[in-house]
Amino acid sequence: MTTTYRVIQWATGSVGREALKGILMHPALELAGVFVHSPEKHGIDAGQLCGVPDTGVLASNDKDSILACDADCVVYAPRLADLDEVCALLRSGKNVICTPFLFHRSPRFAAEASKIEMACREGSSSVHGTGIHPGFVGMSLPLAVSSLSRSIEHVRIEERADWSFYDSPRITFDNMRFGHAPQEASLEANPFARFNAELFEQQVWLLSDAFGAGIEEVRVEQELAVAPESRDLVAGRLEAGTVSGQRYQWIGLRGGKSRVEIEALWTLGGFYPEHWPKPQDGWTVSIEGEPSLQTHFISLASFRRSDATMEEHVQAASVATAMQAVNSIPALCDAQTGWRSSIDLGGVSTGIGFIDTPG
Ligand SMILES: NC(=O)c1ccc[n+]([C@@H]2O[C@H](COP(=O)([O-])OP(=O)(O)OC[C@H]3O[C@@H](n4cnc5c(N)ncnc54)[C@H](OP(=O)(O)O)[C@@H]3O)[C@@H](O)[C@H]2O)c1
Repeated sequence: MTTTYRVIQWATGSVGREALKGILMHPALELAGVFVHSPEKHGIDAGQLCGVPDTGVLASNDKDSILACDADCVVYAPRLADLDEVCALLRSGKNVICTPFLFHRSPRFAAEASKIEMACREGSSSVHGTGIHPGFVGMSLPLAVSSLSRSIEHVRIEERADWSFYDSPRITFDNMRFGHAPQEASLEANPFARFNAELFEQQVWLLSDAFGAGIEEVRVEQELAVAPESRDLVAGRLEAGTVSGQRYQWIGLRGGKSRVEIEALWTLGGFYPEHWPKPQDGWTVSIEGEPSLQTHFISLASFRRSDATMEEHVQAASVATAMQAVNSIPALCDAQTGWRSSIDLGGVSTGIGFIDTPG
């Protein structure tokens, strides 16, 4: 007998809409409910929210009715993550897959980890954080690559991304503070940057734990670059002298020596600082060891279709984030209770696969 998992989609932004569509297409999943943050989306059919025929499931902005809804899992994809909200869902007996946070335990996150474990015990539920990155690139992909290793000396993950077309100007400008004065975007001044930095740090701890690197600390470095001139972008106007580049490094150290590193090179408006390293766009995973292994990864709207627009290519990253979460639902629902990382869930693959298209 095949199992069907009842799923709630929480928030229908760039990622949430794609997850909703994925849930509706996945043969092992049934849509149980949709939570929307925006009051104007309350009462709208889930199908309309993601561009497919009506489903009979109406979106709701009433948290209590969502908590009371009978479901196996929630795909949690709001712009701003709320630990209390996730804990309430866990206590209500629902497993939760988060795209904004909860990728792996880290020392800095110990108090929150205890709270999560307590909620999971209370609801006999489990929680997992994933996406494209953080998620697949910084966790599942290196774990898979490491299956070719006899021994490992160093792990490095590089991300190079242009945020210009990211369909979430509020995250780009408000949360990440691109387009703000540099002093407003620093780690010290911007709580969202600190929150975000912690997420990448969690991936460093995950790789250290998975590979036995035994790191003692993660050093976080941030460098900001400013736009030399003003530019109008799809997501808004970038003024000269405001932040147009953010470079982060998370360096996992043992005995003062780097063992696991993640670097993010993020730019906006096409201004790429001369002195920054210049890896290809996308993600590169390098494992130095016996043997030394490297893979470059990108996600696009299509490799074949020459008319795919930049917006479509960028949206493809939201599809990938959403589908990594959706495809992980059966594994999480079947996992032991508690905070489960990619180490626990193992390899996850598509639950939908080929779909027949006319002709
Ligand atoms: N792990 C990864 O690889 C990865 C990749 C991309 C994004 N993310 C994370 O996934 C989440 C969703 O990303 P997105 O691109 O879909 O974001 P988004 O489009 O900016 O917003 C998502 C939705 O959040 C709801 N929302 C709006 N204001 C809110 C607030 N003040 N508090 C809570 N929720 C609010 C809205 O839902 P309704 O429209 O339904 O009302 C909105 O559409 C974000 O936290 C993002 O950081 C993770």
